[in-house]
Amino acid sequence: MLRIALIVGSTRPNRFADKPVEWLVEGAKARTDVQLDVLDLREADLPFFEESIPPSMLGGVYSHPKAEAWRRRIGEYDGYIATVAEYNHGPTGVLKNALDSAFLEWNRKPIGFVGYGGVGGARAIEQLRGIAVEMQMAPLKHEVNIAREPFMGVLTQSKTLNDYDYLIQSRTDLFDNLVWWAEALKVARTKLRLVQ
Ligand SMILES: Cc1cc2nc3c(=O)[nH]c(=O)nc-3n(C[C@H](O)[C@H](O)[C@H](O)COP(=O)(O)O)c2cc1C
Repeated sequence: MLRIALIVGSTRPNRFADKPVEWLVEGAKARTDVQLDVLDLREADLPFFEESIPPSMLGGVYSHPKAEAWRRRIGEYDGYIATVAEYNHGPTGVLKNALDSAFLEWNRKPIGFVGYGGVGGARAIEQLRGIAVEMQMAPLKHEVNIAREPFMGVLTQSKTLNDYDYLIQSRTDLFDNLVWWAEALKVARTKLRLVQ
């Protein structure tokens, strides 16, 4: 079974993020190929990046204990999903900071995104894909976009994400593709010589 971390990408009080988190955990429970652990950035309580020497020059080690604990935790997983709130057409500061707070642990692993907002977080997700490539990750093509109608439906009309069949299908596609990449890259990481 693959170990996948679900990173909760926003931390503000009353965040919407908890809705997709709950729904993704429910989706993962119905599968036999994925163990999904929730990594809440509220609990990680990371400092804003404050290393005096970039981790890239120190073998990926961090001096701040909370960043060090975070990057070790990240290292336990075969792949990642992040919930993506879109703040001013970009990802949240806390999610970007969480990506900066590990280095080698992300390398050659897949990440998928579940966005929400007016256009389903699509603009923030596009930026995250570029960031993920720089971290030597494999960002998935497949994504879940909870756009205006379902976003407002859940927020203001007591609807649930399960009321939208196309979202359930997107969730399945995301898990299926994440599993494919996670399996493939796990083999590659153990079998192939690493190139810089
Ligand atoms: C600072 C800020 C900027 C926002 N900018 C956008 C935006 O660019 N696009 C969008 O679709 N929604 C935007 N929103 C609305 C968010 O989609 C909405 O508040 C959502 O619930 C945020 O996710 P969260 O509740 O998990 O923090 C913004 C919200 C905040 C607080």
